[in-house]
Amino acid sequence: MTEAWRPDEDEQRRRGASGPVRVRVPAKVNLHLGVGPLRRDGYHELNTVYHAISIFDELTARRGDTLSLTMEGEGTGELALDDSNLIIRAAHALAGYAGVLPHARLHLRKQIPLAGGLAGGSADAAAALVACDTLWGTGLSREELAEIAADLGSDVPFLIHGGTALGTGRGEAVSPVLARPTTWHWVVAIADGGLSTPQAYRELDRLREAGSAGPPLGSIDGLLAALRQRDPRVLAAALGNDLQDAALVMRPALAATLKAGEAAGALGGIVSGSGPTCVFLAADAADAERIAVELENAQVCREARVAHGPVLGARVT
Ligand code: C5P
Repeated sequence: MTEAWRPDEDEQRRRGASGPVRVRVPAKVNLHLGVGPLRRDGYHELNTVYHAISIFDELTARRGDTLSLTMEGEGTGELALDDSNLIIRAAHALAGYAGVLPHARLHLRKQIPLAGGLAGGSADAAAALVACDTLWGTGLSREELAEIAADLGSDVPFLIHGGTALGTGRGEAVSPVLARPTTWHWVVAIADGGLSTPQAYRELDRLREAGSAGPPLGSIDGLLAALRQRDPRVLAAALGNDLQDAALVMRPALAATLKAGEAAGALGGIVSGSGPTCVFLAADAADAERIAVELENAQVCREARVAHGPVLGARVT
């Protein structure tokens, strides 16, 4: 915590930004999502490689006399904009940490689908921390923001950092993966409706208890070696997700989506996080475009988008 000194509203206005602050934040996929046992705190120990891709939400923060949130795009009308929203919770958490008034008018332009396994809610929380930090002039370090982020959700610290990074603990302990810069080309098959993340973890526990889950992924070394080789075929073979079996039980139709991606020439495909989004690695950008068209024609998803990664985490634009 910082010192107890609290600026009054005039002082806060002088320190902060006068114009609107716009922050862009990416979606994430897990190139390797190794899920360990259930911990006493209700979370699972993770061993994951996060990867930020070029599907973005944008959060604009303006000065206001209260804290308010509006939105447009994906999930409008479905996503609660009250105190339960992660953006509002993030703004309160930052204000509490820095000792400032949580006053802002926030507007979200959403492209990341809700409950899609792409960490859209966590991305928005990360965007809110970065946007309000600039608007209020609180000037926290990325490390301090990541500390607040960890309390908001396991994926939020990664979405502040972006890039490709290792996640341990329950996913909140993030360290960058050092690899020579390579751009990977993805096709992102977005399903109708979402899947519940807690339910997917519970389903995996159930499958494991019944002995019917696939073998756990284990070490991330193969994935890290594949990233260093910079060959999409090698990376495709190393992709893996322990939650995929659970997602397939909850949404059996995803098997057809994965099959269609392969048939369309994707080098590899997995369910993203807890699903139902599926992501496919393509040889190059042109191939990704072609695969996306084929997936849409095959009617195995609501929408197929191309994306590349890695990209930066939440940043003021
Ligand atoms: O951290 P976050 O709030 O995003 O997690 C949502 C839910 O996903 C948790 O309440 C928990 O049920 C499940 N989860 C888990 N193990 C993790 C991360 C999430 O079981 N490492």
